[in-house]
Amino acid sequence: MAAPGFTPGAFVFLLCINSVANYPSGKVTQSCHGMIPEHGHRPQADPVHHITVSQVTFRPGDQVEVALSGPPFKGFLLEARNAEDLSGVPVGSFTLIDSQMSQLLTCEDIQGSAVSHTSSSKKTEIKVYWNAPSSAPNHIQFLVTVVEKYKIYWVKIPSQIISQPDALPFTTLKATVSPLSTPTPVSRLTKLFSASDCGNKKFCIRSPLSCDPEKEQACVFLSFTKHDHSVMVEMSGPGEGYLSFAFSHDRWMGNDDAYLCINEGQTVHVQPAHFSGRSHPVMDSRDPLEAVAWRLADGVMQCSFRRNITLPGVKNRFDLNTSYYIFLADGTANDGQIYKHSQQPLITYEKHNVTDYPKNIGGSRSSLLLKVHGALMFVAWMTTVSIGVLIARFFRSVWSKAFFLGEAAWFQVHRLLMLTTSVLTCIAFIMPFIYRGGWSWHAGYHPYLGCIVTALAVLQPLLAAFRPPLHDPRRQMFNWTHWSVGTAARIIAVAAMFLGMDLPGLNLPHPWKTYAMIGFVTWHIGTEIVLEIHAYRLSRKVEILDDDRIQILQSLTVAEAEGHAFKKMVLAIYVCGNVTFLIIFLSAINHV
Ligand code: HEM
Ligand SMILES: *[C@@H]1O[C@H](CO)[C@@H](O)[C@H](O)[C@H]1NC(C)=O
Ligand SMILES: *[C@@H]1O[C@H](CO)[C@@H](O)[C@H](O)[C@H]1NC(C)=O
Ligand SMILES: *[C@@H]1O[C@H](CO)[C@@H](O)[C@H](O)[C@H]1NC(C)=O
Repeated sequence: MAAPGFTPGAFVFLLCINSVANYPSGKVTQSCHGMIPEHGHRPQADPVHHITVSQVTFRPGDQVEVALSGPPFKGFLLEARNAEDLSGVPVGSFTLIDSQMSQLLTCEDIQGSAVSHTSSSKKTEIKVYWNAPSSAPNHIQFLVTVVEKYKIYWVKIPSQIISQPDALPFTTLKATVSPLSTPTPVSRLTKLFSASDCGNKKFCIRSPLSCDPEKEQACVFLSFTKHDHSVMVEMSGPGEGYLSFAFSHDRWMGNDDAYLCINEGQTVHVQPAHFSGRSHPVMDSRDPLEAVAWRLADGVMQCSFRRNITLPGVKNRFDLNTSYYIFLADGTANDGQIYKHSQQPLITYEKHNVTDYPKNIGGSRSSLLLKVHGALMFVAWMTTVSIGVLIARFFRSVWSKAFFLGEAAWFQVHRLLMLTTSVLTCIAFIMPFIYRGGWSWHAGYHPYLGCIVTALAVLQPLLAAFRPPLHDPRRQMFNWTHWSVGTAARIIAVAAMFLGMDLPGLNLPHPWKTYAMIGFVTWHIGTEIVLEIHAYRLSRKVEILDDDRIQILQSLTVAEAEGHAFKKMVLAIYVCGNVTFLIIFLSAINHV
């Protein structure tokens, strides 16, 4: 299921009901709810296909023959729904008449609750039986999505309504409120949610922590207010797509109790769901939700509902008298279809009991371990290593006569910075392993490059510790190896940083992180080039002076002194720029 580059489970709140209704194979269970083929074209308006039913009244246990016919079509998806709640779950199950042409699907956990095509061959008629369940609602309507070809399709073509014999006629029933099988009444919210009771009467989770839906409306706000045996839930945020939250036993997706508010164009659909794996959500019955209300205005979506703290006998809804991690995610939706969240979901730092003492909390879109990992690696491979290398390469002559603790100053600084790099790398290396509890299988090439870099970072100081004395013939060999290993490590480290920044576990803002990284690399290489040219010109100058044989010694020292001042200035400017880049990255990590 996981695409390469995705972290398994970790924060991957995959809400991807994606490609669908006319997969040639017809295995389109992801489309069960919205019944929309994701073809990127708008559905056709006036249906040319129709559904006929063999009887207009039915009793539980009846088999009703349902036929879909019309001009040749390639794919379809047929479901029966409660006519009073057409966006609810499918009702009853089907029995196939022609298993060559049609197949049963398991939608919303109900086996055989939908029928689809088996291939993209053209057909003009499909017949199946619908089995009325014992708990059938009074009025049933069949809905079918028909795909003529990729760009041409119709969504949710309705059939005539069939009813139980003793049910009130459908039109009158809509007006009178039947106590038994009314769909949850949904009302419009008139005012914005308030954050003023957060931490006092309401348990609030906000992103950012200062989010006040009355003022800055596009921020994400979730609150729980406990009344005797129920909890009132309010959620608001940007209104383009969907907002969702979930209760989870762990920090990974899977087996969670989730709630979605989906922008369906003119209305908001409030939907409980669960995640059986870490894939798309499975929609559940909306019965446990009471007092459902929503508002869609000024680009902001609000939805609220009440549910009992405990729901004995209801599948997939957790008891809210205990603690959970809470996930908050948003993403895009199109015609009621929801897609994977656009950014990592927010996860609370610890488990919380939302029915206990009201708190006011935030969360993070990344784990602290990964943040520390990224931050330490940036310090090591952007800053300490770069400065350490520049000093060894260009500042030997500048600081060769200054001694510090018995060694040349340049050497002491170089050694200190390089050891820091190695130590930081080793510490940071462990973090993702602790976080993941093993190898990061879905993090692409980053972990492999990371291991090479870490290995070289450990090897390098070991080699250096056993370096041959200055005039030993093997010293040349050492210098070469030392330079190659170090340069290789730095190049691979830059690649690892580029890839690491893109991992979902620590998703830094796009595309700017790429520009910043390119900026840093350019800044560093530019500095090296400047210093290299300077060193070359200095050596030319010395040669010319040498040729002229005039006051060689004196001129040489003057030229050198000037050169040293220039180099020191370049170093100072370089360090400022380098640290600026570092701060940019560290603060980006701090903000995810
Ligand atoms: C040269 C520097 C770096 C080295 C040597 C390095 C090394 C590693 C290694 C070995 C792993 C895999 C650990 C495992 O399999 O559990 C890893 C994972 C990771 N690294 Fe790095 N890394 C570096 C820089 C970065 C940077 C700069 C970032 C982000 C800004 C980053 C983000 C991550 C993330 C998010 C993971 C976890 C992937 C996951 O399991 O979800 N790394 N790194
Ligand atoms: C919630 O609890 C009340 C009583 O505590 C009960 O009457 C009601 O039916 C419950 N609602 C649901 C949806 O279970
Ligand atoms: C929560 O409620 C359920 C059902 O009433 C009960 O079985 C469970 O023990 C309760 N848990 C806690 C922590 O109170
Ligand atoms: C959560 O809070 C409720 C209400 O205060 C309390 O009854 C329940 O025991 C708490 N659960 C846990 C696990 O602390």
